[in-house]
Amino acid sequence: MRDVLLQKIQDRKATVGIIGLGYVGLPLAVEFAKGGFKVIGYDVSERVVRGLMEGRSHIQDVSSSDIAKLVKQKLFEATTDQERLRQADAISIAVPTPLGKTRDPDMSYVIAAADTVSRTAHKGLLVVLESTTYPGTTREVLLPILTKLGLTVGEDVFLAFSPERVDPGNPKYHTKNTPKVVGGITQACTELASALYSSVIDEVVPVTTTEAAELVKLLENTFRSVNIGLVNEMAIVCDKLGVDVWEVIEAAGTKPFGFMKFTPGPGIGGHCIPLDPHYLAWKMRTLNYKTRFIDLASEINSQMPAYVVEKVAQALNDERKAVNGSRVLIIGVAYKPDIDDIRESPALDVMRLLERNGADVVFHDPHIASYREDGHTRTGVELSNDELRRADAVVIVTDHRSIDYQMLMDNAALIVDSRNAMAKAVKTRARVVSLASTRFTGMAAEPA
Ligand SMILES: NC(=O)c1ccc[n+]([C@@H]2O[C@H](COP(=O)([O-])OP(=O)(O)OC[C@H]3O[C@@H](n4cnc5c(N)ncnc54)[C@H](O)[C@@H]3O)[C@@H](O)[C@H]2O)c1
Repeated sequence: MRDVLLQKIQDRKATVGIIGLGYVGLPLAVEFAKGGFKVIGYDVSERVVRGLMEGRSHIQDVSSSDIAKLVKQKLFEATTDQERLRQADAISIAVPTPLGKTRDPDMSYVIAAADTVSRTAHKGLLVVLESTTYPGTTREVLLPILTKLGLTVGEDVFLAFSPERVDPGNPKYHTKNTPKVVGGITQACTELASALYSSVIDEVVPVTTTEAAELVKLLENTFRSVNIGLVNEMAIVCDKLGVDVWEVIEAAGTKPFGFMKFTPGPGIGGHCIPLDPHYLAWKMRTLNYKTRFIDLASEINSQMPAYVVEKVAQALNDERKAVNGSRVLIIGVAYKPDIDDIRESPALDVMRLLERNGADVVFHDPHIASYREDGHTRTGVELSNDELRRADAVVIVTDHRSIDYQMLMDNAALIVDSRNAMAKAVKTRARVVSLASTRFTGMAAEPA
């Protein structure tokens, strides 16, 4: 079986099935199809499937013209019919792995995808889980499903984990040129999964077990969460000391070794950094171990929206205004610059907290015209001089590159800047309040 599948992969005659056509699954599907493999993308969303088959991409980093071309060439098809996956020689699973209300892993999507695999699996199939999850998932959830079918993993079928590292909106690194880690249940599993990914991805990094591969992803994202937590705390420290946190970070960043620059902000968002470390924390709780770094970083990061709101309240207070009744214009609701994703965005918390305190909150985001939350649609406002002048406070939550920050400076009365986005604007009208307000003004500083 191993040699037959390997040959099919090397000849690009293998059909690749992808379960879940979102931020991770769709770019992967496109990469395989562009590499000459026939790709069957299965998704439960009829809207997603219909759009793709009509040549429309719903993912910012994937162009509609690429999709339309690959559909026309019959290299890519999207379907809601899981039976189509019977034709696949390899299946990659890229379904969501959110947290439940109690912040425990919600494995329902992975279990549903595993069920799809069990209905369509056959001898000679390679299955790769890509969804970020706790160490042990591939062995504990997927392996029994295949063995229950009477298939021997490593001989009849092959099973591996390979974490996706896609960074939406990153102009330099995308699926093809980001090294891909692969760990199989057996050596043959690792070899086959490595062979498949090496056909379309520049560099594949094999590790010896599925658990190691699962943990690689969690280490990467925990590393980010902890370091963001550290600089966020540094912003609070600098505020209390009256020192400019951005100046400190810039200067520390000139050290050519042993320091990596992270920047403070209003909190963390997206489907990865706020969630993934909790998968590891949960797993370790089942082993009676408390992951203190994860918990501490999460505590600091999740308090940042409230910290921003406190800054807004203080800044309004300086002008004898209350949050209650003030009009606040939020700039940027996406969780990071230059993308259109609001999942877990700290902007949503900032807005909620301001509204809870009686503020009249509006938002502008060049990438998000409107979004739905708790059953309601929220529509953004156009960025205009009038809108800026109407606001009692403008709060920069996400520093999209396409925003005209000088326009903000020239028209707003008060700007609370959680991202240092105003650093390059020439001082004119607005009073700018940073996350860490400066008490000591240096020799070169302009008088306020
Ligand atoms: N978004 C990122 O930047 C990113 C980066 C690295 C890793 N990841 C991980 O990749 C996984 C997928 O994330 P995403 O951002 O692509 O999610 P997504 O929500 O963008 O896409 C998931 C897709 O899966 C579909 N789906 C859900 N259940 C299904 C099922 N049972 N069968 C078939 N399709 C199903 C949904 O309709 C959706 O289209 C997660 O584990 C995430 O942690 C995400």
